Amino acid sequence: MSIKILMVCLGNICRSPLAEGILASKLPKNKFTVDSAGTGSWHIGNSPDERSISVGKKNKVDISSQRGRQFSTADFDTFDYIYVMDSSNYSHVLELAKTQDHKEKVQMILNDLFPNENVDVPDPYFGLPNGFEIVYNMLDEVCEVISKKLIEKHS
Ligand code: 4NP
Repeated sequence: MSIKILMVCLGNICRSPLAEGILASKLPKNKFTVDSAGTGSWHIGNSPDERSISVGKKNKVDISSQRGRQFSTADFDTFDYIYVMDSSNYSHVLELAKTQDHKEKVQMILNDLFPNENVDVPDPYFGLPNGFEIVYNMLDEVCEVISKKLIEKHS
């Protein structure tokens, strides 16, 4: 059975689609499934932001076929690991958790680089164009660590 990982941000068009694409590119497809969702509903059914698609393409990670969807309580049962991009996403997701088991699935993604520091992946949506490069590099670095951990744990 596949190990399921969910990446969560606010809009599901900038950060979590990149996190999904980057982590999926580092994991064997026969063992792991990676998806993403937003806590907000504005971008349901939409393609990722052009700037995320573009920085992904530059790094050979194609996220153009992804479509936005909203996080729901059912995701706690479907997914084994839920990574959120920032502390606001963390609060919103935790509000929907019904059990301790649900809560324990949720982790701030950069805690795999900076343990217990709860560092945010900055939202690049309203920022400068190079915000997307910065976000890409952060996510690439942490997904390298996460993929190694997951492969070792589930081998
Ligand atoms: P994301 O960025 O959470 O990284 O996808 C955002 C995209 C859209 C909005 C907010 C954040 N928005 O308010 O529409």
